[in-house]
Amino acid sequence: MEQNGISREKLPPAPVGLFYAWWRGDALPDNLGSADLTIQLDPPAPDIQQLTGLSDAALAERREHGNRAVIGHIGGEAVASGWSCAGRVEIGELGLDFQLPPGNRYVWDFVTLPEWRGRGIYPALIRAFLDAETEVERFWVGHDLDNSASGRGIIKAGFRAVGEVYAVEGAGPIFVADGIAAGRAVEAAELLGIPLLREAG
Ligand SMILES: CC(C)(COP(=O)(O)OP(=O)(O)OC[C@H]1O[C@@H](n2cnc3c(N)ncnc32)[C@H](O)[C@@H]1OP(=O)(O)O)[C@@H](O)C(=O)NCCC(=O)NCCS
Repeated sequence: MEQNGISREKLPPAPVGLFYAWWRGDALPDNLGSADLTIQLDPPAPDIQQLTGLSDAALAERREHGNRAVIGHIGGEAVASGWSCAGRVEIGELGLDFQLPPGNRYVWDFVTLPEWRGRGIYPALIRAFLDAETEVERFWVGHDLDNSASGRGIIKAGFRAVGEVYAVEGAGPIFVADGIAAGRAVEAAELLGIPLLREAG
C-alpha cells in the first residue's frame, strides 16, 4: 500500500520512535508502583526544579504550553517526576510539533532517579494522570526506539502500542500502524500532524 508517495519499501530499516495510547474505557492494571510511594500532583515549583533542574524560564514555558507535573516520593524523598501536556507538544528528536485538541493529553519527560528504577514508579506516575484527569478521553505517550525501559513501563501503565514514527529522508516523519491498538493509527497520525502509511495486509 502506498500513501502520500511513501511505500513500505521506502521506509528506513528502523523507526525513530514508538507511540502508544490509553483511551478511557481501556483496561487498567492493578497494583502499580511501590506500596510506600506517595504521589504529588501539581507540586510547588521548587520541588519539581530540585528534582529536574529546570530553570524558572523552562518551567514557565511548560506551564504556558499546558503542562502539569507529578512527583513521586518514597520515605519523604522525591524520587521521580513526569509531565502531562494539554497544549503544545514539541519532540525535537522526532521532528514533531503539534497542538493537542481538547480531550487529549500527551504524557512525557518522566524520570526516575537511577537508584529507584525497576520498582514500577514510572507506570504509577503515568497512572496518576489517568486517574486525576477524568475529563480526558485519550492519553498518548511515545519513546525513542532504543528506550526499552520506557516502553516496558508504558505497557505496565496500561497503554497499548499504536504505531511507529519513521524519519524518511526528504519526506519527514511518517506514522506506521503497528501494535495491538494499530486501529488507532489514523487518530495518532492526525494528532501528530504527520502522514500515515498503513501496514500492507
Ligand atoms: C524510563 C524510566 C522513567 C522508567 O522508570 P522506572 O520507575 O524504573 O519504571 P519501571 O519500574 O516500570 O521499569 C521499567 C523498565 O526499566 C528497566 N529497569 C528495571 N530496573 C532498572 C534499573 N535499575 N535501571 C534501569 N532500568 C531498569 C526494566 O526493563 C523495567 O521493565 P520490567 O520491570 O518489565 O523489567 C527510567 O528508566 C528513567 O528515568 N530513564 C531515563 C529517562 C527516560 O528515559 N524517561 C522516559 C522518557 S518519557
